[in-house]
Amino acid sequence: MQKNHLRTYGNSRRYITNSERIWAQLDDPDFQKNVDLYVLQESTERERVSTQIKDTSDRIASQTRRPLRLSVSKKKDRSGVPPKEPVVLIQTSSRRESRENRDKKKKRDEFYSKKKTETHAYVKAEKENLVLAGSRPRIAHFDIPVVQRCKTVSQSTSKRHVKLDDLLRFLHQDAALPFKSYIEPFQKWIRKIGEATYSEVYEVHTRRRLVWKIVPFLKKEQLRCIDLYNELRSTKTLGDLDGFVKMRRGVIVQGPYPRVLLRNWDMYKNKYGTQNYRPDYFDKDQYFCILQLEHGGIDLEHFTIYSWQEAWIVFSKVIHALAIAERRFEFEHRDLHWGNILVRRKQASTQQVIDLLGRVSLSNALDKTNSASTAAEGDIQITIIDYTLSRLRCTDGRILYYDFDDPEIFTAEGDYQFDIYRFMRDSIKLDWASFHPKTNVMWIHYLAYQLVHKKNLPIPKKDDESRENTFFKYFIKVLNVIRPGSNNSSRYKLNSAVSVERWISDGCHLPKTAEKKLLR
Ligand SMILES: Nc1ncnc2c1ncn2[C@@H]1O[C@H](COP(=O)(O)OP(=O)(O)O)[C@@H](O)[C@H]1O
Ligand SMILES: [Mg+2]
Repeated sequence: MQKNHLRTYGNSRRYITNSERIWAQLDDPDFQKNVDLYVLQESTERERVSTQIKDTSDRIASQTRRPLRLSVSKKKDRSGVPPKEPVVLIQTSSRRESRENRDKKKKRDEFYSKKKTETHAYVKAEKENLVLAGSRPRIAHFDIPVVQRCKTVSQSTSKRHVKLDDLLRFLHQDAALPFKSYIEPFQKWIRKIGEATYSEVYEVHTRRRLVWKIVPFLKKEQLRCIDLYNELRSTKTLGDLDGFVKMRRGVIVQGPYPRVLLRNWDMYKNKYGTQNYRPDYFDKDQYFCILQLEHGGIDLEHFTIYSWQEAWIVFSKVIHALAIAERRFEFEHRDLHWGNILVRRKQASTQQVIDLLGRVSLSNALDKTNSASTAAEGDIQITIIDYTLSRLRCTDGRILYYDFDDPEIFTAEGDYQFDIYRFMRDSIKLDWASFHPKTNVMWIHYLAYQLVHKKNLPIPKKDDESRENTFFKYFIKVLNVIRPGSNNSSRYKLNSAVSVERWISDGCHLPKTAEKKLLR
């Protein structure tokens, strides 16, 4: 079992289990080592099973100091084979049923009912455009923590109740389509290319090269309609902007997971391994949403960057895309790790390849320490994806946002990415619905950090006067100035992607004009 009950997905970069649920096969040695569970035999009689479960649960609860629920299930395991041994579902409750909690809940309920009238009035006013962005009514006269106050307002602004019908209507469907027959015509062109937190990602290469993200939703432990609605609507809205993924279509289907996809899933697993369960455990009436997106390239984590100049091009293009989205939609990505930035090199024409080869060998001959400048600005394209945690204001005024109600998001350790969630929380003070472009600056800092420290680019020598060193110096300057909590950041008023972009195009306050020119 992993630290913090953390389940990582796709390339080990995501947290999460919503309610800290862990499926454990009892014969998994790691599991036994850590939790020391009994192996329950098929033959064990009912009564003994429940005694064993009770003992185990008491023991684990006293070790972990968290309430525990254990139950036995014979659900199929990852490979689809029903387990020989019973499987124990361990659920450590993330909410303590303490009196303190009950009191808090009561207080919150009272608060919500008191605020109902005021909230309705606010929503009405907002609809009639009487309330301007950023001028939300302050609700300061109740003796209630800030967190709860903000939440009341924000929930009202984004109409949290989205039902299946709303989703179908949004996608212009009368009903869900049968999964199997929807997939059939595409079966020759489908192959699995990746894994997402709640879903599987396939490439469908017909006339166009598309990516299908197939997301189960609606049931317990799955995405809620509101989350899916937000993702679909954000993707549709942002798709008009350069640098954001374009959605061709969204379709809701229903039915068991089709065989052709399972075959693909197995092939992928044999080749690359997997961190997901084989998707054959869904019920027959399971709903899925297929997001059909344009292929944006390879995620930045796996994309090879050859020079500091290329790194800078990627970096400035992401900032530019963010700045435009900030202006147009008060957009904050809030989860811009390097798995959510796709990069692609434009296919070079034969002439360009010849030029490039010439450039490489020439620069190598001239300067052995200087890695070749391999890309011009137009050669590299970036695409930002995955708006599950994002915040934006649509043109009709509706605010889409995620309320970050999984405490696990903030407890993960081991990568700078996880610090950013905590920085955001501390800066936003849980007012997730409002516009805080500062979060984009935090992710820009993360991006600079990853490019400088994680892409294995050679560090230029101090006295190196090449362009490469100049780009490297820009990165160092950016890292120092926009570091979360740094004084410089407030001195230069760098509190949005818009301001960072302006600051960069002004030369980052670096002295030499010659160097500044490179940035324009
Ligand atoms: N449009 C796309 N083009 C190419 N690859 C994609 C695309 N969308 C998703 N992917 C791949 O699938 C992975 C997971 O997708 P993502 O939308 O980020 O899901 P999650 O919400 O689980 O992070 C990405 O890191 C990327 O490798
Ligand atoms: Mg992602």
